[in-house]
Amino acid sequence: MSQTESKPANRTLPAPIQAGQPLTALAPMQDVTDRPFMAVIANCGAPDYFVTEYFRVHVQSRLEKHILEAVTENETGRPVFAQMIGEDIHHLTRTAKDLQSHPIAGVDLNMGCPAPTVYKKHCGGGLLRDPQKIDQVLGALRQTIPGLFTVKMRIGFENTENFETILDLVNKHQVDLLSLHGRTVKEMYRSEVHYDFIKRAAERINCPLLANGDVTSAAKARQILDYTGAAGVMVGRHAIRNPWIFRQIREDQAGLPVSKISLNQVNRYVKDLYAAVERPHAPEQAQVNKMKKYLNFVGQGVDSEGKFLYEMRRSKTKAQLFEICDRHMPDDGALFADEPYPGVIARPSRES
Ligand SMILES: Cc1cc2nc3c(=O)[nH]c(=O)nc-3n(C[C@H](O)[C@H](O)[C@H](O)COP(=O)(O)O)c2cc1C
Repeated sequence: MSQTESKPANRTLPAPIQAGQPLTALAPMQDVTDRPFMAVIANCGAPDYFVTEYFRVHVQSRLEKHILEAVTENETGRPVFAQMIGEDIHHLTRTAKDLQSHPIAGVDLNMGCPAPTVYKKHCGGGLLRDPQKIDQVLGALRQTIPGLFTVKMRIGFENTENFETILDLVNKHQVDLLSLHGRTVKEMYRSEVHYDFIKRAAERINCPLLANGDVTSAAKARQILDYTGAAGVMVGRHAIRNPWIFRQIREDQAGLPVSKISLNQVNRYVKDLYAAVERPHAPEQAQVNKMKKYLNFVGQGVDSEGKFLYEMRRSKTKAQLFEICDRHMPDDGALFADEPYPGVIARPSRES
């Protein structure tokens, strides 16, 4: 089906918040993008779409309750796509059917996860080595999913030799939306992003494309959209750092001045996030450690020498952590950086 042909109503993408603007989505992030996190992001200015962290699919898998909560108790006011990861066609289609009994916007297939434990099993990014398998998986899922079926992938496994073939399979199986992280699996998270491949994909595929990888700010989103011709952007780590980024992208796209964020707003975001993700009976130190996962990214915009990061990584109690936040992010009108400070590196405890 070409982009100009009309699609059945149940396969029309939900309209963006601002009609006519590029799409925005919060990238799925394991152990991060759960229901409370999505709610906090939505309070700062929701993206057009959310995507759950992945549901693992295997012989004994059942939909994990804490992930499903992001769908069944969605407080964001925006659609949530449910992502799955796996390689067994029978169990992938079973899971896709199970997901459709919940209020999901659509089913997303993960073909990008670079964790060796995942790709060794031919799941996630591992699938990119095997176009024949992709053909089978996409074909079976397309037949099973009457609504929106989306794919998130990287540009290749070790190299990009299968890139065009896989894009043609995305077309063949009428995928409704493709999110493309412009790195290979082997490049993990820190190499330069190959926006030229995202541009090539936008030219080749029939469905809308979300450009993903190092969308750090509204200005960078504009550059990437202009260069690649993508239909929108998907933002992961930089939305943890700056949860106002989706609102700022909308402002920028409308030709309005982009809101400046004060350090004190960031301080309030951190405290709201603490309250949102706090588990009633979890030990305080576990809670503080959980916060460090988010603050690793937030700290990239607090000070240019990484002093906030250094201190917060050593905090043990909630009181210590909040005191460090108050000291580095006082109510004195100082601004949070628009772009991450160069050389201030986030060290997430776990990446998918
Ligand atoms: C902590 C973490 C967890 C992630 N978990 C997932 C996941 O569950 N599914 C997925 O498709 N990608 C996952 N990713 C990849 C992101 O969705 C995204 O593609 C990647 O971070 C690049 O985008 P960014 O530069 O905007 O962060 C994860 C990334 C991080 C940093």
